[in-house]
Amino acid sequence: MSDDLLKRHRAVMPSWMPVYYGDEAIEIVSGSGRRVTDASGRTYLDFFGGVLTTMVGYDIPEINEAVTRQLATGVAHTSTLYLIKHQVELAEKIARLSGIPDARVFFTNSGSEANEAAMLMATNIRRSNQILAIKNGYHGRTFGTMAITGHRSWSSSSLHPVQVSWLPSGDRVRGRMAGLSDGDIIDVGVEDLRETLATVTAGDVAAMIAEPIQGVGGFVSAPDGMLGAYKKVLDESGILLIADEVQTGWGRTGDHFWGYQAHDVVPDLITFAKGIGNGFALGGVAGRADVINAVPAISFSTFGGNPVSTAAGNAVLDYVLDHDLQANAKRVGDILLDGLRAAAADSPIVAEVRGRGLMLAIELVRPGGTEPDPAATLRVFDECRRGGLLVGKGGLYNNVIRMGPPLTLTEDEAREALGVLTGAIRAAETF
Ligand SMILES: Cc1ncc(COP(=O)(O)O)c(C=O)c1O
Repeated sequence: MSDDLLKRHRAVMPSWMPVYYGDEAIEIVSGSGRRVTDASGRTYLDFFGGVLTTMVGYDIPEINEAVTRQLATGVAHTSTLYLIKHQVELAEKIARLSGIPDARVFFTNSGSEANEAAMLMATNIRRSNQILAIKNGYHGRTFGTMAITGHRSWSSSSLHPVQVSWLPSGDRVRGRMAGLSDGDIIDVGVEDLRETLATVTAGDVAAMIAEPIQGVGGFVSAPDGMLGAYKKVLDESGILLIADEVQTGWGRTGDHFWGYQAHDVVPDLITFAKGIGNGFALGGVAGRADVINAVPAISFSTFGGNPVSTAAGNAVLDYVLDHDLQANAKRVGDILLDGLRAAAADSPIVAEVRGRGLMLAIELVRPGGTEPDPAATLRVFDECRRGGLLVGKGGLYNNVIRMGPPLTLTEDEAREALGVLTGAIRAAETF
């Protein structure tokens, strides 16, 4: 059955839209908790959650009931031209949690659209089309967000609506930060920022956009405090900071509710999507009232604060807070991180196990060096699937295994996954 679906998929969907597992592509037909079942009846532990989006898990009664209650009213959509209680309630909660005083919230349908909106706001209030972005970052697939995405595999156009200046990522395996201490990485980054502002910009830059942990880029992160150190420099000329929390928000990193909180800074704008809908299309921007309100003409998103999506969003956020999923992400994430580091300690093909909370990655290289090994990565990836574990891939060279399971992951499930991952690494070593 899936064979036929794969053929039909290939016949009608764009060629540039990847599907995992090639000719062995799977169709997920049901899910419960952290497990999904494919069309052939095989069940997997899901460590990728539809790219860190099924944040609470599958078939969660509280979320199902909230959505069903809204559908039972007969109203799936009204447009934001009418008042929407779920939208206002969710905005109030996110504004309160944002850490930004008197914040405003604008809802979108995706992370790309959230970042587009943030750039619109920042470039308008600053009357500047210059943006600072971080190499190896990913901010979306749309025309504007592709411009600020520093990742060749995802860059399919050089036509850009903004002028972008690039800063180095915190990659410790290769590149100019490799081998440096955290303190030195911050010093080099700040020096580079000053030099960039003085040489390749017209000075009046609108904003810097940064992911606290680079998602698509393979969970590479700058040292704690780096964004705060940058912000001190940005503040000298009024440049705004946009934290792209599309992957790092809502407690995923365990140590913090937002990724930015590791950096001793409060951003001017926060963009979010993915997990907040647990699969329903929901994204947005939270930020300073003066910046959000700087859009100088009418603007709206037809589906933006949709009553079904925001009913789901409220239920997801309440679930995350009521069950303290951030603490679970920390506890279970630490078990995984320690276990993976122990399993990889003597592996010649693992350059780094990194991450935080339930956002963990394994970078694979040719034995004895730092040359990326996408083939070994594919072997680990396929071996995990054979062992009943779904993981993701990523990184600039497609040589990173990425894991972002639902934040409800249990210790037993973490240990089960550790067993599969350890076996997959061993199998890739001996290939
Ligand atoms: C950090 C980050 N920002 C933005 C986006 C774009 O979100 P969407 O795919 O919902 O447009 C993504 C998607 O992977 C992301 O990881």
